[in-house]
Formats: sequence, structure tokens, C-alpha cells
Amino acid sequence: MDLNDIAKEIAQCRKCGLHQGRTQTVPGEGNPRAEVMFIGEGPGEKEDLQGRPFVGAAGKYLSQLLEMIGWKRADVFIANVVKCRPPKNRDPLPEEVETCTTNYLFRQIAVIKPAVIVTLGRHSLNRFVPDRIISRDHGKPFRVKGQVYYPIYHPAAALYRGALRADIESDFRKLPQVIAKAKLKPKKLPEASALDNLNKSAKIDSSRQQRLLT
Ligand code: URA
Repeated sequence: MDLNDIAKEIAQCRKCGLHQGRTQTVPGEGNPRAEVMFIGEGPGEKEDLQGRPFVGAAGKYLSQLLEMIGWKRADVFIANVVKCRPPKNRDPLPEEVETCTTNYLFRQIAVIKPAVIVTLGRHSLNRFVPDRIISRDHGKPFRVKGQVYYPIYHPAAALYRGALRADIESDFRKLPQVIAKAKLKPKKLPEASALDNLNKSAKIDSSRQQRLLT
């Protein structure tokens, strides 16, 4: 089973309601041996028409971010949690995400075996770790069962809210280091549960502080 076989299955898929509104499926594209996989939310209008991920405004910005660190789109693999455009670009429903990822995305990941999965935005991040918060956790790599994840803002969010650009750009610049560490010293990156405990104690600290202040 290779990526083309999976893409052929995706093209025939009717496992959820999203197939009804699609022009084309958008399986993802790029280097089948990529060290890094970028995973967005779902196709928009342009992606649906072309059958390719991230070809609209957010995609142009993603390409610029890659160029900024000396990479090309063809070096990486770019995909989404859902492979068909949600109507009027609404958020994908949890059951659509569940069906599409278990049937296709997770199999693509198993074939590519990337050193790092870059999650773009909250839908992608929360498919892998439900209780992460993108505004708090972006730019902090972590491991779950040996797989390294690196959450960053969705490029579309940074286009709408210019204030996020500095964050997304500095997170991108750290990516080569994150990959090097994931390959050489993955144990130096925290397990997701260790970060959760840290976040929990930070929360306790801030509510303690709050109590002291009020
Ligand atoms: N936004 C996404 O999340 N994915 C795309 O492919 C395009 C825009």
C-alpha cells in the first residue's frame, strides 16, 4: 500500500456527508519520504477545485514561510485532517475528522513516517492531543508514543490577525532545529503528559495568584 493507493481510495470515499459537496478530494501532496508533514484543517474553495492542498491565500503564505527557511513545498508533505471541503468552509465536525483521519490520514502518516508532524491550527493539533491550546502551546514540540509534534498557528489565522505573524514566523524558523532534535535526541523533547502536568501546575499557580490578589 503506498500513498497513491490511499489517494485512489480517498477519491472514491463516501464515508461521511462531506463527499456530497465536493468537486474533488484533496488527499495531500509532496515528498513521500518527507521528514516533516504539515497537517492543516480541510480544503477551501481553491483546494476543492484543484484537488491540491493549500493553494489559496493561506497556501501562498505557507509557501513563503517554507521559502523563508530555505525549503520548497516539494521537500515536505502537506495534508489536511479532512480530505473534502466542508460546506461554506465551516469547521469540520468531530465525526468527520474522526472518520477521515482513521481511514486515511493516519495511514498516510504510517507510510511517510515523518520525523516531525507540524500541526497547523487547532483542529489539527486537537486531533492528536485533545487538550492542547494553540495560543499557549504553539512553538513547543512534544512527543506522543514516539511521534514528535510541533504545533504552530494556521497560516490563515496569521493572515487574518497580523499580530500572529511574528509568532508563526519565529516558530517556523525553529523548525530545522526541532527536526534535528527529533532525529538525534527525541528523548530530550517532552512527552505530551509532562507538558500537561506543567500546564496544570501553571494554572494552579495562576489561580493561587488570583486568590492572593483578590
Ligand atoms: N486551509 C487548510 O487548512 N487546508 C487547506 O488545504 C487550505 C486552507
